[in-house]
Formats: sequence, C-alpha cells, structure tokens
Amino acid sequence: MKKNILIVPGDGIGQEVTEVGKKVLDKIAEKFGHEFTYDEALIGHVAIEATGNPLPDETLTKMKNSDAVLFGAVGHPKYDNDPSAKVRPEQGLLKMRKELGLYANLRPIKLFDELLDASSIKPEILKGADILFFRELTGDIYFGEKGRKDNGDSAYDVAAYSKFEVERIARKAFEAARTRGKKLCSVDKANVLETSRLWREVVQVVAKDYPDVEVEYQFVDAIAMLLIKDPKKFDVIVTANLFGDILTDEASQIAGSMGMLASASIGDGTGVYEPIHGSAHDITGKGVANPMASVLSAALLLDISFGLKEESNAVIAAVDAVLKAGFRTGDIADASTPKDKILGTAAIGEEILSRI
Ligand code: IPM
Ligand code: MN
Repeated sequence: MKKNILIVPGDGIGQEVTEVGKKVLDKIAEKFGHEFTYDEALIGHVAIEATGNPLPDETLTKMKNSDAVLFGAVGHPKYDNDPSAKVRPEQGLLKMRKELGLYANLRPIKLFDELLDASSIKPEILKGADILFFRELTGDIYFGEKGRKDNGDSAYDVAAYSKFEVERIARKAFEAARTRGKKLCSVDKANVLETSRLWREVVQVVAKDYPDVEVEYQFVDAIAMLLIKDPKKFDVIVTANLFGDILTDEASQIAGSMGMLASASIGDGTGVYEPIHGSAHDITGKGVANPMASVLSAALLLDISFGLKEESNAVIAAVDAVLKAGFRTGDIADASTPKDKILGTAAIGEEILSRI
C-alpha cells in the first residue's frame, strides 16, 4: 500500500513522542511491504514562533492533501499564564479540527493488564475495563461565540449544537457499539442545559435505528463518579465536546496513565491521530516522556485510515510485549519497578521497534 503521512509534532513533548510514532510507522512499512512517504508541518507555539500563525495555511493544505496525520501536541506555558494573549497555540488545534471537519474524536480507554498497579484506582475495580469514548469535536462551547461585555468586566462563551451535529456523532457511536459490547451511554446535562436536552432528544431518535444496542443516559456529574466507581460497567460513551474533554482525562486513570492514551479524530476528510496528553512542558527536553500514546495513535491510524488491521495489531502487540518484559517509562513505573527497567523515550521506543 502506498500512503503519504503528514507528521505534525507541534509543541513540547509532541516533538519527542511523535518521532517514536513515526519510526513505528516506518518499521511497519518495512515489515509488511508498504510504501509510506512523509512530510512535516508546523502547528501551535512552534508555528507562531516561525510564522506568527498557530495554523499556517501551508500546514492546512498539507493536511488536506495527506492520507493521514500523525499529530503530537500543542501548548506552551507562556500563554497559559497570559490570559490576554490574542494568538494562542490551541487556536491552531481548534482551527484544524474545524477546517478538516474532524467531528468525531475516538478515545479508547483500555488497560494493559501489566499496568493494573500503575493507576491510583484499585486493580480489582479496573481489571477488564474497556471503554470507547466518542467525543464530539467541532461544536459546543468550544466553537460558539465568545467575548467580553461591560468594558471587559464580564465574559461569555456560547454553547450551541444543531440536530445534525448530534446525529452524526451519535450514529458513529451506535455503529461502534454494534461491533463491541452493544452498549451505549450518552452523557449530557439535560437537567440544566438546553443543548443537552437537544442532545438527548436526538440520541433517543437515533436509538430507534439500533434496537440491538442497549442505551443508557447519564448526567455528566454522575458519570464522573461512576467511571471511577465501576468503569467495567461502560462500553461506548458518547458525549459533547467539553464533557468529553474532561471525562477522557479522568478516564485516562483507568488506563494507568495519560501517557498511554491514543486518539483518532475523524470526519469528512483526512484523519488526525494524536496522544490525548498535552505538550507537558514540565518534562519537555528531558527525554523521559512516554511515547506509547503516540505509538498507539499510529496503530489507530493504520487501522482506521488505512484499514490495516493486522499491522495495527502488530503495533499494539509490540507495546504489550514491552510492558510484559517489564520495561516502563517513569509515568507508569511503580515502587516495584527495578531502576534499570525504567527507560527514556528513545530507549523504550527501541524496545517497541524491536518487537514489531
Ligand atoms: C485535548 C486538549 C485540547 C482540547 C486543548 C489543547 C485545546 O485538551 O485534545 O483534549 O481541549 O480539546
Ligand atoms: Mn483535553
């Protein structure tokens, strides 16, 4: 198979982990006889520094023309501590999502058995948990009108959804539920928010087309609690942009660490694959970041954008084998991990590559 992949490392540890993700794609091409070609592009803080724009037109064009994008992270503490900054790295990410029509963000939460003790949740609660989140990615309070009033003394962000937007993500989630445990949980705050009442109304209608899928509705505050209390109860979860952002960070603890969680953003055109962890400037440049989320994002890319299931599974199996061999990065090590088994980004990357 001939494919052209755009590598967009972005900021912070995005640079370090994406390098490993790309090597994994290369190794897969070599082993399975594919021809992957690569190009690189800038986004986020590095793009602002180079061009003044967090998503240069050149990057967007390259994205649209590629078969898939392997993405790192965006963000820089400089902006976090300066709320008045008008140009921000995250604008690049949001514009990319909108321009590429990436309305469905898939975040699989699956615990590798070897990491049962890496989470702060009790192993017996976690064992067997396997959840697939569908986070709506191009609507909600993220994209509504925002601004200041009263001479800047008050601010607003509008949350808005159309039936069309809810229906297309709901259908994607129902389809996925069909191929898994046949259970879908739709999360909203319909007891308070009008957008949530529309959300629930639409999901109820769509549900009629999927009588084989068992549907449950939860309020976001309740599921925030239930995810920790009994994560095994859930199969597919579908929710709005902001709720999905928050719940998937929480749910990363079910998978041991944020450093393990991959995501796929799909929609109308090119798919984008990225770790859910951010740029992590506290550990940037130290060579200690866990590259597994990027590697597992590469696995999602192979599966979803290219339909290469066997290749994708080979990547996941290699990560599993590295964990079974006892290797860890700092974020997933615990008191029982021998010092010589705690590896940096590049070294654990090599362990993964040698097992593909
Ligand atoms: C994510 C991130 C982004 C989001 C930030 C960086 C804008 O947290 O992909 O989850 O909020 O969507
Ligand atoms: Mn997030």
